[in-house]
Amino acid sequence: MILVTGGAGFIGSNFVLDWRAAQMSEGVVNLDALTYAGNRENLAALQGDAGHVFVHGNICDHALVEQLLATHRPRAVLHFAAESHVDRSIHGPGAFMKTNIEGTFTLLEAARAYWATLNGPEKDAFRFLHVSTDEVYGSLGPNDPPFAETNPYEPNSPYSASKAASDHLVRAWCHTYGLPVLTTNCSNNYGPFHFPEKLIPLMIVNALAGKPLPVYGDGQQVRDWLYVKDHCSAIRTVLASGRLGETYNVGGLNEKPNIEIVHTVCALLDELRPSAAGSYTRLITFVKDRPGHDRRYAIDARKIERELGWRPAETFESGIRKTIQWYLDHPEWVLRVQSGAYRDWVQQQYQ
Ligand code: NAD
Ligand code: DAU
Repeated sequence: MILVTGGAGFIGSNFVLDWRAAQMSEGVVNLDALTYAGNRENLAALQGDAGHVFVHGNICDHALVEQLLATHRPRAVLHFAAESHVDRSIHGPGAFMKTNIEGTFTLLEAARAYWATLNGPEKDAFRFLHVSTDEVYGSLGPNDPPFAETNPYEPNSPYSASKAASDHLVRAWCHTYGLPVLTTNCSNNYGPFHFPEKLIPLMIVNALAGKPLPVYGDGQQVRDWLYVKDHCSAIRTVLASGRLGETYNVGGLNEKPNIEIVHTVCALLDELRPSAAGSYTRLITFVKDRPGHDRRYAIDARKIERELGWRPAETFESGIRKTIQWYLDHPEWVLRVQSGAYRDWVQQQYQ
């Protein structure tokens, strides 16, 4: 067994689906609070799979986490659960402090107590893998080298500050208590099941609905884009072979300005779902910038390649095409997410 937190979210659900497809012998306990970002419909393909145990609960609930560890005796905790949206963290930072900092602290303490009960090979094999972000390193200038694992932490948003704090906790629990931890810091993911509050899915669903495509500021902010399935394979690689206590940066080798991303989305939609009203680029609208908006992120992913042999399999061209096709093929998912009906899905599906 492995214990996954946040496995009904975007990356977590992709990870759990891939894990069950690839590692049928090893089950998953999936602990998720089902916030607005958690959607059990993402996991519909696992209905009837006895190797997937879904637990509706909060990572801040120490007694629950303790009980799950004691009952299922996982050989690893993979920690995805977080409040993840920068804009929401600007409007309401409290939930980010609670889940990202206190939640990680709760998990670390429960994992430490559980790990202390293990012996021999079970104890040696245990891992706590913390999924984090490149945003902890701050913002780069146009000619700065990409973020390496040795870069100082300079988080700029409430979200990235809370993730930076969680990374520091994970590091300290390794340094002080010897907890066998691994941390990954990755760039912007995209792919199936991405909640349409983030740039790429928002542009796709707005374009299809004929709504404006809001580009913050001048649209020249740069991000590195990583196809979510590549992120999942990186996490499996780090879990299998990462050196204890180490951090691995994970990137997609796809640095692009936002405006270029939006133009690519429009061009693919023009090809795959042309609109009678003309190119989707007509919907591009420049809006007020995000406060404190980081200008550029870029990842130096040479360490994970050199030490563990991992590289992304998708180019941006192949990954974005797959992503847009997925949204075109899943209009019901989009509709239910937009209307809020996804929250009723479990009741409809299981009762
Ligand atoms: P998401 O917002 O889509 O999903 C988060 C999941 O965590 C949801 O299912 C939610 O219900 C659950 N959750 C939230 N609070 C919880 C709590 N207190 N207890 C239990 N479950 C809780 O996030 P995501 O985009 O899938 O990101 C997953 C992880 O990857 C996060 O730690 C995020 O910081 C990190 N990350 C994301 C990206 C990205 O581009 N999306 C990039 C780098 C790192
Ligand atoms: O870098 C990794 C991070 O990527 C993760 O840690 C976060 O969890 C994830 O949300 C993401 O953060 P960003 O802020 O980079 O993602 P977002 O999709 O919100 O925005 C991407 C860029 O697009 C950013 O420069 C802001 C811009 N943007 C975003 C939205 C939602 C717009 O121009 N318009 C928009 O409507």
